Amino acid sequence: MDLISENVILAELVDQYPLASKVMLKHGLDFCCGGQSSLADACESLKIDINMVIDELRPCLVQAPTQSWSTAPTEELVTHILDCYHASLYENLPHLQELINRVVEAHGEKDNQSLHALKKLLFDVSGELIEHMEKEEQILFPWILSNRQPRPIEPIQCMLIDHKRVSSFLTEIAKLTDNFQPPNEACATWRNLYACLQSLDYQLRIHIHLENNILFPRTSR
Ligand SMILES: [Fe+2]
Ligand SMILES: [Fe+2]
Repeated sequence: MDLISENVILAELVDQYPLASKVMLKHGLDFCCGGQSSLADACESLKIDINMVIDELRPCLVQAPTQSWSTAPTEELVTHILDCYHASLYENLPHLQELINRVVEAHGEKDNQSLHALKKLLFDVSGELIEHMEKEEQILFPWILSNRQPRPIEPIQCMLIDHKRVSSFLTEIAKLTDNFQPPNEACATWRNLYACLQSLDYQLRIHIHLENNILFPRTSR
C-alpha cells in the first residue's frame, strides 16, 4: 500500500518525511510558501507527472519517519529553529559573502552580469535575513512563548511577507546559478560557492516551512 496519497498536503509530507524535500526541490514543488497545496494540485499546476513524483518519493518514505515537528511542544520547536537554522545562517552567511567576493575578484570580468548580480543578491538577502532573525528572536519568539494576549498576529503577518521576499530571492539565485550548476570553467571556489548556495537554499526552505506551516498557524489560533 502506498504511504502517500495524491491528496497529501506538501507541508505535511515534508514534515513527516524530511527527505521528501529533495524530490520536491528537484521538481520545483514549493513546500514552504506554497506548502498548503496538495501534491496533486502542485503537480498539475507545474504540469508534472504525479506518478513519476510518487515513484521518486518512495525511497524517501521507506525510512522510519524522523521527528514530526507538528506534534512537538512549541518551546522545543522554537529551540530547534534557533539552534539549527538561525545559528547556521549567522555562521554561513559571512562565509558565503567571502566566497562570492573571491569569485567576483577572480572571474568578475569574464562573467560580469550574472556574477555581479549574484553578489548583489547575496548581500541583499544576507542583510534582510539578519534583520528578520533579530525580529523573530527579540520580539516574535518571546511573545509566542509567553502565551500572552493578544496573540502576535501582526508580527506574524510581517514575517510571512519577509519569507515571501526571501523565497523570491532564492528563486532568483537558483536562476542566476543555472540551478547551482557551475560552468565548465569554474574554479574550485566557484564550485564550492554554488554547493554552499544550494545548501543555503535547502536549509532556508525547511526553516521557512517550520515557521509558516507549523509554528505560526499554531500561535495565531
Ligand atoms: Fe527564523
Ligand atoms: Fe522567519
